[in-house]
Amino acid sequence: STVYLNGDYLAAADAKISPMDRGFLFGDGIYEVIPAYQGKMLGFNAHIERMNNGLNEIEIKLGYSTDKWREICQQLCEKNHGDNLGIYLHVSRGADTKRAHAYPTDITPTVFAYVFEIPPQPVSDIEHATTYTVSLEQDKRWQRCHIKSTALLGNVIHYQQGAAAGNKETILYNRIDEITEASSSNVFIVKEGVISTPPLDNQILPGITRWLILNILHSHSDFKVQQRVISKTELLDADEVWITSATKEVGAVVKVNGKLVGDGKPGKVWQQVQSLFTKHKF
Ligand code: PDD
Repeated sequence: STVYLNGDYLAAADAKISPMDRGFLFGDGIYEVIPAYQGKMLGFNAHIERMNNGLNEIEIKLGYSTDKWREICQQLCEKNHGDNLGIYLHVSRGADTKRAHAYPTDITPTVFAYVFEIPPQPVSDIEHATTYTVSLEQDKRWQRCHIKSTALLGNVIHYQQGAAAGNKETILYNRIDEITEASSSNVFIVKEGVISTPPLDNQILPGITRWLILNILHSHSDFKVQQRVISKTELLDADEVWITSATKEVGAVVKVNGKLVGDGKPGKVWQQVQSLFTKHKF
């Protein structure tokens, strides 16, 4: 495949970075994943804005305009094949001459981007939907989860523990039993018709899919929607549980730690919301 590295488009096998890159040594970088269907990107501006917020927060000065990012993303979609692509963008602080914790001031950020295949757009069909069984664990990551850092070991360990138990995601709760998010998704629950999702703070990534879903729900007055603290007990007792991300859209969770959610099938509210998402997402 063709990838982008520091201004050049080249074969993946020819893309080389220094082992002194702080992305490699420290996980010192920011990334994004943007879905593109038939070359049409979903939530592009919001993804770039979130990446810029992350770069500002950790003081990486890059100076790529939104147009420049759009050009890179479009070029990668054109140069590679596939109707359903995830566009991965990665900016690290760059390569230093030595390993030292302090931010060096005189190095150039490393910019890497490539595309990978993602599943086709989900269907809003209760019988044929992709469903998720999940683990539920205490969140043992750091306290800056709003930054989409390339240092993902905490998330990777949580995901892996879920996978080892035969599950496809791991939902997390903090030390006082409040749901935060999942290892690579945001979380929603439905109880007696009310849709709830945890509020934005340092414990969760401000998901673009979460934001798109909330916008759609707010424009349809028939939904009751709350951004509020959700307890672990409430999650286990919910009628429906969803996990959301760029590649999953609205993912229906059917089992948590082996216990069925509702009747063990995607719920009626899930079906309505995934179908609205399919219609209104672009
Ligand atoms: N993950 N929370 C975490 C910890 C995530 O890693 C992600 C996305 C989300 C959902 O965000 P969005 O709706 O913007 O995709 C929430 C990406 C897809 C990944 O790491 O591959």
